[in-house]
Amino acid sequence: MKFTIKTDLITKISSDIITLAVDDKNQIVSGNQIDALTLKHLNNILKLGDLHDSIGSTLLVHVATEYSRVILLRIGAHADLTSKEFFKGMVSVSNQLNNINFTKIIFPINQFVNKLITEQAATEYLVRAIMDKGYVINSLKTQKKSKPANFQVYLHTNKSATKEIKQGLKNGEATAKGVNVTKDLGNLPPNICTPTYLASEAKKLAREYKMKVTVLEQKQIEKLKMGSFLAVAKGSSEAPKFIILEHMKGPKNKKPIVLVGKGITFDAGGISIKPSPDMDEMKYDMGGAATVIGVMKTVGELNLPLNIIMVVPTCENLPDGKAVKPGDIVKSMSGQTIEVLNTDAEGRLILCDALTYSERFKPEIVIDVATLTGACVIALGHHVSAVFSNYDPLAYELKTAGEKALDPVWQMPMWDEYQPQLNSNFADMANIGGRAGGSITAACFLSRFAKKYNWAHIDIAGTAWKSGKEKGSTGRPVSLLSEFLINRTLK
Ligand code: BES
Ligand code: MN
Ligand code: ZN
Repeated sequence: MKFTIKTDLITKISSDIITLAVDDKNQIVSGNQIDALTLKHLNNILKLGDLHDSIGSTLLVHVATEYSRVILLRIGAHADLTSKEFFKGMVSVSNQLNNINFTKIIFPINQFVNKLITEQAATEYLVRAIMDKGYVINSLKTQKKSKPANFQVYLHTNKSATKEIKQGLKNGEATAKGVNVTKDLGNLPPNICTPTYLASEAKKLAREYKMKVTVLEQKQIEKLKMGSFLAVAKGSSEAPKFIILEHMKGPKNKKPIVLVGKGITFDAGGISIKPSPDMDEMKYDMGGAATVIGVMKTVGELNLPLNIIMVVPTCENLPDGKAVKPGDIVKSMSGQTIEVLNTDAEGRLILCDALTYSERFKPEIVIDVATLTGACVIALGHHVSAVFSNYDPLAYELKTAGEKALDPVWQMPMWDEYQPQLNSNFADMANIGGRAGGSITAACFLSRFAKKYNWAHIDIAGTAWKSGKEKGSTGRPVSLLSEFLINRTLK
């Protein structure tokens, strides 16, 4: 898929398909730009009433004029079109493309620009939607493998190519590339996507974008006294890794932003073993790690002038003769002791040591991303990720970035009243706090290791992947975090 900005007269550009917006009055929004004969023909088609009224509906028509095909897209009243509706529209246009044979498609950009959607935003959403739909799972099927879509997309503007369209294209492509990295990692089977594999992926990014990579091995992790992380790793014969990837392209004395990702490459629950149905989906339990790796891809593509450090603790959580048991007490790197009452609450056990480790960077902020709790899915479902923070302005910044990126987060409370649920008679704390408010007590647990800096925790248990027929990684919340970081370069 290749995107090109075109500024010639639209009638002078040869393309197989043009996408035209149709408003609530059945008028083609950029009708004055196309030739009179095509317009007349399309107006006759519209009179037939086959294009549905609901916003985002599409109709593929064949016209024997300058374009062999036109995709009509209902956008409702032009002035009221929202970014969410526009994105949905671009997704339905992409779906139309699945079954046709073509090489070039043109989108006039200004038909989607209004007070709510800037030129840059329209371009960025368009690029992201098309690339998202064009994603093909790198499957291990030996036959009938689908091929990645290969076509040209012309972004048309009747002005000279504006800075906004160029920037929108750049950001959109970089974000979508990051999303694809995350999807690929998530979709890989757990016998391939191991902690060692994640480390090699980080090394690849380091080579490609001149970042600094460090992979700590078991011995070094022991030396750091990460007793909590190591307790989880004990039940598996896969070697744990602690990955650090540094992109220090911001001002020298500026404190870094640290991104931490939960990297459980398979979560069987450990001795507190999970039920068998759908257990395969616990290959996605490295979704936090995959997210921060994907974000580093975007960061590298855009070469953002920021100091960003990615930290990924990664291992498997399996039952074994050597595995950590319910009742075991472990000592975290912070020195705090933890009574492991349920070995399936392992994400917090590996993250707490990564949060303590992050102190050494004297961070401006730390954001961790994790498929942390089933309770989060019960609370919020699959449409929005949860954000918890010890610093409200940071939660607000993430919420705003999520809205803009159409990759939303919703702030959850993390009040002190919940903390006593983690009390233990034998250690400084237990690793579980009962069924009530399960995603909140998980965040409360992490907060005890994030006291030295401004911190946010994003629980993506409900958003990182889809189940059922459409089973696969969503690449969330790469778009949110990319937007968040890009905004920080504008400050
Ligand atoms: N990886 C799971 C969380 C999860 C569950 C994500 C379902 C997505 C879908 C996590 O490690 C876990 O098992 N959490 C437990 C915690 C409980 C034992 C306190 C859970 O949510 O059941
Ligand atoms: Mn678990
Ligand atoms: Zn888990």
